Amino acid sequence: MKTLTGNARLAGLVGYPVSFSQAPAMHGYWLQKYDIDGIYVPLPVREGEFATAIAGLRAAGFRGCNITKPHKQEAAALCDRMTEAAERMGAVNTLVFEEDGISGFNTDGFGFLAGLEQNGIAVDGRHVLVLGAGGACRSIAMTLAEAGAAVTLTNRTRSKAEALALELGGLKVIDWEQRADALAEADVLVNTTSLGMLSQPPLEMDLSRARDDLAVTDIVYAPQKTELLKNAESRGLRIMNGLPMLMNQARPGFAKWFGVEPEIDAGLEKHLVERMQASAK
Ligand code: ATR
Repeated sequence: MKTLTGNARLAGLVGYPVSFSQAPAMHGYWLQKYDIDGIYVPLPVREGEFATAIAGLRAAGFRGCNITKPHKQEAAALCDRMTEAAERMGAVNTLVFEEDGISGFNTDGFGFLAGLEQNGIAVDGRHVLVLGAGGACRSIAMTLAEAGAAVTLTNRTRSKAEALALELGGLKVIDWEQRADALAEADVLVNTTSLGMLSQPPLEMDLSRARDDLAVTDIVYAPQKTELLKNAESRGLRIMNGLPMLMNQARPGFAKWFGVEPEIDAGLEKHLVERMQASAK
């Protein structure tokens, strides 16, 4: 790592736990690539300590930070201003400390959408079937609807999908048991549940009714190819895992703290995959 000067720009990831996060590796890759006098550090902050930690980081001259579980909602409450998207989501994942206050952003939905665009998966005017109703689903469903998609939600606990659909407006909800049938009219499938992630059960999703041009996307990136994506690939369907979302959601914060718009290149993906493989051993 480059030696820092006394003017080094400081940023990091606030959450608990943060030990499994790929964010320091990602920002570290870009800091090195662009030869920036700056550092991005993991900041494990427990529940109850969040406001104290943020005040401390500001006082210590940090430019800002990313926020992850369990602090995304509390971070929103602490902001002096935030983007419309962050306001509607009631959660922020990126803070920028400025002279006159804290600005909040939620870049999760942007990250997912940018990933779709980079992979040539269109959603405007298309039918998108979204599995889940948790925090990740909220950002993604909202962003997809704003991008012109007709969104259908389905979740094991139907009431949660209904509450989300009511809040966002204009979304259809179907039973979890109907998910395989609903593929017949879907252009894009998105798994936003934790199923398929390392140490979680696989997602059971029968793809036999899928159209040949269905794009299957999963926000899970460890493993890189979930059973869902493997099945989709073996049927000749287009697939996208969670890495494009992970890499894209990090870009706005990096640009604001370190002053360079970072690019997603093949080296970044290779770097992340190698690190995940090493930590899985
Ligand atoms: P996040 O904030 O990361 O989205 P979350 O809020 O815990 O995480 O949401 C997890 C999602 O995975 C939920 O939609 C959850 O469904 P429920 O609302 O019914 O809990 C879904 N999920 C987790 N385990 C599941 C399982 N075994 N079968 C089906 N869905 C599951």
